[in-house]
Amino acid sequence: MFGWFKGTKTVDAPVVVDGDVQKKIVIDIRNITKTYDMGELSLQVLKGISLQVQQGEFLSIMGPSGSGKSTLMNILGALDQPTSGEYFLDGEDVSKLSESALARVRNKKIGFVFQNFNLLRRTSAVRQVELPLIYGGGSGRTKKAKAALTSVGLEQRFDHLPSELSGGQQQRVAIARALVTEPAMILADEPTGNLDSRSGTEVMQIFQQLNREQGISIVFVTHDPWIARHTNRVVMLRDGNIVADRAVAHPLVAGEAERPSEAEELEGVFKDTYYGGSQEEYN
Ligand SMILES: Nc1ncnc2c1ncn2[C@@H]1O[C@H](COP(=O)(O)OP(=O)(O)OP(=O)(O)O)[C@@H](O)[C@H]1O
Ligand SMILES: [Mg+2]
Repeated sequence: MFGWFKGTKTVDAPVVVDGDVQKKIVIDIRNITKTYDMGELSLQVLKGISLQVQQGEFLSIMGPSGSGKSTLMNILGALDQPTSGEYFLDGEDVSKLSESALARVRNKKIGFVFQNFNLLRRTSAVRQVELPLIYGGGSGRTKKAKAALTSVGLEQRFDHLPSELSGGQQQRVAIARALVTEPAMILADEPTGNLDSRSGTEVMQIFQQLNREQGISIVFVTHDPWIARHTNRVVMLRDGNIVADRAVAHPLVAGEAERPSEAEELEGVFKDTYYGGSQEEYN
């Protein structure tokens, strides 16, 4: 039944050899914990997570609501620091960097895509995409922004405001904005969560293309097993721990396969097998 999964994959070395190709490890977290202090109460949300992601991997993170996915993504994205543990991002130890040093790393190495697009309402597509370049300095901003928008199929929409774009197009503007700084990786927290299935497929096509053609590493969170099947590896979180880490044997090509009518059934089996627990935990 789970023919799309193959054995658990572990990676130990800072560089791994895959065939003749040496691959860098872009994300290497070791025993990361995160505890939120709330007055008398403290809540441990991540309980010692270790994860390595190679350059060029396309990885999805799944897990019930509240399992710590966004908390983990914020740490991976250097938006937040872990309570303990180590984080090497593209070889650089970022777990002890100051806020300003973190911001620099973030701007240079990581592109973010969010569920709700996070676009400025009164700003044209091309200006939205220029923004990270303004913060980062450098010249030729408009040209680079237009190239990024073209690479996500929006060459006819440079001057449109978000309200003049569909949800899928807005998310593509957000992807172009993430891409324009030429990051080593893209982190996306439920990027298809607010999209209908056709727009979700378009967004997946773009992610797959960026991953395949430009070798950009992508880590994203999804609740949708069908979407996860389009990635190369699935990591399951439950209650602040990684409970499964599997390679997808035959990732689907976005737009080629129809979502099977038995998706719901598959999803049910999936949850039972990998999450266990009670129904209320799932959303
Ligand atoms: N800033 C914070 N302060 C206190 N608790 C927090 C904070 N951020 C998150 N939490 C708690 O940490 C837990 C994990 O939250 P997180 O947002 O990482 O879950 P998630 O897996 O992304 O869930 P969802 O699928 O609903 O997005 C939750 O119980 C949440 O209430
Ligand atoms: Mg979340």
